[in-house]
Amino acid sequence: MTAGSALFITFEGIEGSGKTTQIRRLREHFEALGKPVLATREPGGTPLADRVRELILANRTEKVSPRAELFLYLASRAQHVHSVIKPALRQGITVICDRFTDATLAYQGYGRGLDLAFLEGLNRYATEGIVPDLTFLLDVPAREGLERVRKSRGTLDRLESESLEFHEKVRRGYLELAAREQERIVVLDGRMGEDEIFSRIVSVVEGKLGR
Ligand code: TMP
Repeated sequence: MTAGSALFITFEGIEGSGKTTQIRRLREHFEALGKPVLATREPGGTPLADRVRELILANRTEKVSPRAELFLYLASRAQHVHSVIKPALRQGITVICDRFTDATLAYQGYGRGLDLAFLEGLNRYATEGIVPDLTFLLDVPAREGLERVRKSRGTLDRLESESLEFHEKVRRGYLELAAREQERIVVLDGRMGEDEIFSRIVSVVEGKLGR
């Protein structure tokens, strides 16, 4: 899928796992090496997908059905892949994406209880079959992740406001996915120091680039 040495790298983890900082640092790392890089996120990443993101994450009195929620995430992903991720990879630009298909399996599958095999099929359809070269799963206990989010922000979005049990199911789901796909998904303990996590990320990425 990727041209030249362009990689498609995704970051996953529950709320408060520290993805944002590591994504920024990795983007800066590629920039310092003079390698073209794009950091983006899901849901979102295009004007349409950003509108969908607002719809999904807004706190609302109307209860959102798990299936409606699923299709909103997939709509955002389909647009993002088609108009941003695939064209970038084709041009040899490394793409770093904050959440991707594994989030759908972890949140809508393990968290909401939707059928995993069915979700895998839908993910394939929405992504036109593209799969990350590398995925970093930053793992933190759910209680700790939620505590970090509460401390750093006053208000929580609709997903962050879900119960501790929900986030524990999501975390366990992520770990199961990582156990199933050890080649692609690298689990890092999100409680390690920021620098330690980053140096591990860099060494895995360099290994992938064959350096
Ligand atoms: P965040 O990117 O700010 O963490 O917010 C995205 C939220 O959406 C987060 O709670 C995870 C959730 N999510 C899903 O439930 N399914 C998905 O497919 C994706 C991409 C995100």
